[in-house]
Amino acid sequence: MTSNDGRPPRLPREVAGTAIWLASGDNTVRMSGGADFESLADYYRRLGLAEDAWHVGPEHPSLEQLALRILAESDGARILEVGVQSGGFSVPVILEVFRRKGFAYTGIDNLAYTNAVPLRLIEVYLRQSGVAGPLRFLEGDSTSLLRAEGPSSYDFILLDHYKPKYPIDLYVICARELLSERGTIVLHDVLAHAAPQWRICQQICRAFGYVWTIDEDVFQGAAIIRRGGRRRTPAIARSLIGLGVAARWNLHAAIGHARRAAGRALRSIGLRP
Ligand SMILES: C[S@@+](CC[C@H](N)C(=O)[O-])C[C@H]1O[C@@H](n2cnc3c(N)ncnc32)[C@H](O)[C@@H]1O
Repeated sequence: MTSNDGRPPRLPREVAGTAIWLASGDNTVRMSGGADFESLADYYRRLGLAEDAWHVGPEHPSLEQLALRILAESDGARILEVGVQSGGFSVPVILEVFRRKGFAYTGIDNLAYTNAVPLRLIEVYLRQSGVAGPLRFLEGDSTSLLRAEGPSSYDFILLDHYKPKYPIDLYVICARELLSERGTIVLHDVLAHAAPQWRICQQICRAFGYVWTIDEDVFQGAAIIRRGGRRRTPAIARSLIGLGVAARWNLHAAIGHARRAAGRALRSIGLRP
């Protein structure tokens, strides 16, 4: 697997060393949708994927159980997952809800993590498992997709991707009103790695009149965000928050770029392996 610029991707520090392979006594863990985790693992092994080329994190199955509870109470089933990785969320959720009227799934991943699989592999697995509904697996950057989507496109949105991008993607979702009237956004990891970003996300929610609760039963915490009938702050205040969010992201991206450039320079003169 390669990164977008053709070089082998490096594992981000926040996931390095945290790979947890789901295992129980008989080495089988049931995924919440009734799918057998071991059957997905077998599928990847049969394809010849090394154990570290895919990953189902410790937030499973509590994250998809939360999503399934929310979807069960929802009148729509158009799902967007930002950060698909290897199907730890998408596979059990889709297997559970694909028969529902109005079901549609869109998942996007830029394959920045080395344990994100080529997304067509997940689609093939689901098709072989009998899923007939509309599935859209996209490889690319989340923000570009969100900026191209129209109002009320989704009933459920999971932001489960590279944490510094949370605020900018949440801002785009709110500003473009991508969520249906009774829809829900879930942000994962708001109590752990993403806690600093979650504080800015709260400002965004407030500015756009959304309300939130935190589900602490999900490993690392999940924020559940809905329209709450609150007034939006004036447009100028929302724009200022948007500018701040964009500036933070640009700074983060510039620092990352500079670090990578410095690493390359040090390697080129033999000061770093
Ligand atoms: C925490 S994992 C997602 C876990 C997955 N939802 C699951 O349930 O197993 C984060 C994923 O987001 C992807 N990612 C990071 N930055 C992204 C971006 N800007 N656009 C799209 N995907 C991104 C990474 O490649 C990685 O696979």
